[in-house]
Amino acid sequence: MAGRYPQEWLEELRQRADIVSVIGSYVQLKKNGHRYVGLCPFHNEKSPSFYVDGQKQVYHCFGCKAGGSVIQFVMDIERLTFPEAVEFLANQLHMPLPELQNDPAYEKRRSLKERIYLANKAAARLYHQHLWQEDGADILAYVKKRGLSDAVIRRFGIGAAPARPNIGSTLMSEGFTKEELIAAGLMLERDGRVFDMFRNRAMFPIIDAYGNVLGFGGRAIGDVQPKYLNTSDTPVFNKRYNVFAANLLRRARGLQRVILVEGYMDVVSLSQFGVEGVAATLGTALTPEQAKLLSRYAPEVWLSYDGDSAGQHAILRGLDILEEAGVPVKVLDFPGGLDPDEFIRQEGLEAFEALKPISGVYYRMLREKEKHDMSAEEGRTEYAKACAGFLRRVKEPVELENYVKRLSMETGFDREVLLQQIGVRPAAPEKADVPRRESFRKKAKEVSQVDWAARTLLAVLSTGRLPEGSVSPEEFDDPAYRGLCEAMLDGESPAALMERQPDDEGRAVIGDILSINTDLDDEGLMQMAQDCLKKLRRERLEKEMDKLQKSLSTLPEEQRAAATQRAFQLAQQLTELR
Ligand code: CTP
Ligand code: MN
Repeated sequence: MAGRYPQEWLEELRQRADIVSVIGSYVQLKKNGHRYVGLCPFHNEKSPSFYVDGQKQVYHCFGCKAGGSVIQFVMDIERLTFPEAVEFLANQLHMPLPELQNDPAYEKRRSLKERIYLANKAAARLYHQHLWQEDGADILAYVKKRGLSDAVIRRFGIGAAPARPNIGSTLMSEGFTKEELIAAGLMLERDGRVFDMFRNRAMFPIIDAYGNVLGFGGRAIGDVQPKYLNTSDTPVFNKRYNVFAANLLRRARGLQRVILVEGYMDVVSLSQFGVEGVAATLGTALTPEQAKLLSRYAPEVWLSYDGDSAGQHAILRGLDILEEAGVPVKVLDFPGGLDPDEFIRQEGLEAFEALKPISGVYYRMLREKEKHDMSAEEGRTEYAKACAGFLRRVKEPVELENYVKRLSMETGFDREVLLQQIGVRPAAPEKADVPRRESFRKKAKEVSQVDWAARTLLAVLSTGRLPEGSVSPEEFDDPAYRGLCEAMLDGESPAALMERQPDDEGRAVIGDILSINTDLDDEGLMQMAQDCLKKLRRERLEKEMDKLQKSLSTLPEEQRAAATQRAFQLAQQLTELR
């Protein structure tokens, strides 16, 4: 980056922009206490769980966990990069753009996470350059043989890790340390020597919605195993939380569906033929987190996996995951066991677009039918029973009627009998939002007691109404919380704090923290802080006690007396805290 906007100027921009009026021009907001609430523009919902806090100048959605400052909102809703969003707001407010600052100390202060993002971006650039150079010729030949055009190679930033790798050493000469490159998964250390992780592979950068390079998938160019080598999980990359081509999803406008495929090659190939809004998982089964992520880009997800038996199983699991997450889902099933890449190359774009997606229920029925001998009465009976099992979950009576008619034709059973097998259900009250709420509640439960205490304490701190010196960073064991505490004590605004988070995960945590209710008088706030402090201190003492007790029997004689005394002290302090 050429430079940065001065912090003070950004703070002024945030203040003047006023998050309530900016968001209010996109979303209908209603006042609710000191906050405003409305329907989240980033996912489908029927009852509002999207909150805007005018005091803290942040927004947060309890459903999909979107959240951040006014700048983040403009980035997400207008699909802009950070500098573009800043310019967009400055223009509306008639604020002249300041000179960009160059701050050499800034690079050093960046966290490891940010260094990894930089290293990955630099690596992606180098890999891409090598593809057009002599030592990338074999790999270029391979991707050309796979039918990829120059345009699509550039669109995805596909690159080459040469057979004699030199990316690591180039990056080190650009100022990255060995430790940073190992942490990024670009190099690995064995027997005291470091090597490039990727050799002789076609490189697919995995890029998130904000343009950060998270990691790479490296495809072997021959029959070498493994076929794909992926960056293992790093501080910025978790295969559960990300998808391939999120950057392009975000740019596609007015998408009616996201097509989810299995392979990187499928995404690239569909894109080359002109199909927009395609993404892939990262070599693992679809997760609930990915389901949520995808639901932010379109109202439906179409599963479009390989036509082999592994793909069919993955579709059944994927249906469960998406339905559980409350995301409407359909299936694009390919004839003849083809995968999307093979299908579109053989049949072309028109044939692809003519494919009709089928509902999850029909898909399950199709798969179930294959398991039974439908020419025998026993087979048809077993098939009807199995279908009744999942037809029970169909909410809409008219949809159910369609399925029952079909099942009746297939099995010869009367409609009434099938309905009986399915079970008479009283009409359920409207509860479209339930899955989302519950999964949020589940998430809340996963946060431990200590985490809650830490988060609540930070929420209280963020009001800026605690007397100075009431809370110090040392109260937090978790370095992430400690960092937040330091930033708050430094006077950083909640909005700035959110903006500084490099990923959705970080913003979601801060969003959770800032949405904890702190509408109390000063005395109440102080009480709340003290309760949290107690819990945190108790936890720390208990942990130490635990360790001490476990080590006691193995301690050498001369240390035992001191240890016993410490244990005694701890016990006393613990009693005082209770
Ligand atoms: N995958 C992986 N490790 C492997 C094989 C596969 O991580 N050893 C993941 C990759 O994300 C890959 C996806 O599973 O994209 C699907 O696998 P596959 O269908 O074998 O790969 P394609 O991307 O379709 O590539 P190709 O067309 O070259 O077979
Ligand atoms: Mn494939």
